[in-house]
Amino acid sequence: LTQKAAGGSSVSPESIRFDTGGLSRDSFPKGFVFGTATSAYQVEGMAKKDGRGPSIWDIFVSIPGNIANNATADVAVDQYHRYKEDVDIMKNLNFDAYRFSISWSRIFPDGAGKVNWRGVAYYNRLIDYMLKQGITPYANLYHYDLPCALEKKYKGLLSQNVMFGDRVKNWMTLNEPRVIVALDNGMIPPGRCSKPFGNCTQGDSSTEPYIVAHHLILSHAAAVQRYRQKYQEQQKGRIGIVLDFTWYEPLTDSKADHRAAQRARDFHLGWFLHPIVYGELPKFTKAEENMVKGSMDFVGVNQYTTYYVYDQHIRKNQVGYQLEWQAGFAYGRDGVPIGPRAHSNWLYEVPWGMYKVLTYVKEHYGNPNVILSENGMDDPGNVSLPQALHDTRRMNFYKTYLIQLKKAIDHGANVTGYFAWSLLDNFEWTSAYTSRFGIVYVDYNNLKRYPKLSAYWFKTLLTRS
Ligand code: NOJ
Repeated sequence: LTQKAAGGSSVSPESIRFDTGGLSRDSFPKGFVFGTATSAYQVEGMAKKDGRGPSIWDIFVSIPGNIANNATADVAVDQYHRYKEDVDIMKNLNFDAYRFSISWSRIFPDGAGKVNWRGVAYYNRLIDYMLKQGITPYANLYHYDLPCALEKKYKGLLSQNVMFGDRVKNWMTLNEPRVIVALDNGMIPPGRCSKPFGNCTQGDSSTEPYIVAHHLILSHAAAVQRYRQKYQEQQKGRIGIVLDFTWYEPLTDSKADHRAAQRARDFHLGWFLHPIVYGELPKFTKAEENMVKGSMDFVGVNQYTTYYVYDQHIRKNQVGYQLEWQAGFAYGRDGVPIGPRAHSNWLYEVPWGMYKVLTYVKEHYGNPNVILSENGMDDPGNVSLPQALHDTRRMNFYKTYLIQLKKAIDHGANVTGYFAWSLLDNFEWTSAYTSRFGIVYVDYNNLKRYPKLSAYWFKTLLTRS
């Protein structure tokens, strides 16, 4: 098998006995949903076509030096045209659901006002085809790609849009607001403090992240409020938010390191989840507090990795907002790495972090309904096709993380769904095509799709009961 897989351009799953670590459908609660996830800008392509307006990412990628190999997502993996093929792949692999995002600037090219009906028609085609094939849509309203018009006009973030609700019953407002806030010290758009603009002349890294986070929380809550008041009852859907959460384990047993790890968790997850669950955050008016408190039917958690944390006192104004954490990260302890690194330098494979994250959310936030909305690992962009297809490490990654997820459920965590990131190799933001997260390989020369062994691993898991 190994030789065959190593030599060919596809793998023959029929001849393989997949090890699912004892997991099957029945290992998970009744109705548990398995899906894969992507986002509009990372997969759709047609960035400048069919009436779509520019988003902050289109501008950012056009500035030389921002993106690996100065690549763009103008074509990406062309899901705009190949959605049927992609939905067929999901169906063939036995997945139940697909988490995608709606490109705001495809629907409102100018940010608001005039609707681009060709964009609406695309999502209607995609949703209808998913339903036809028995794949449940999970739609994310905002996955990083803010229309430029809004950035220019308001220098900020708003949230609206409730279309497609007759067929989409699972809504997510924002994807990873912490990333939107925290990495905007120039690393991602709008790049207010990035090199092209000189030394932070456009922004103030010590205050702006807090302001933006504040507005993001309010925009999320406003979208939920509107959905609940106008649409929810009639459409019988539910709405939540997607937060990323890295597990932070104290490096040593010292009180100081424990406190540092807790600060890291509070800044990473608590910043958003605390107000949404408990309504408290400085400088909310009473009316805002009421709108924010309880503004989710479920919380989406993106879980990839775990770091050790130690107490570290850094002087203010050195590295922007991270200062407040007063915490340092370590990727090993006593000479033992915390886990093998994937291709991305932030991604260490630490399955037990999955259990800790889910248990933490259960214990600190009143055991909310959790959808594990992203989990996965990447290979370098230039792996050969046979190597890429024979992704035993990824299979093992999914197996070991899912075992921990099941353990958390068995211990009472209210997790009702799981989405692998990603269905396809795609445009990994600033790393562009140099990082491959897919369970399906994409040949960027001709955009052909090749399921990797991990895709068939899922198929086996999802076929077994
Ligand atoms: C988080 C983001 O939601 C997604 O867009 C990204 O590609 C993956 N994680 C992997 O980095």
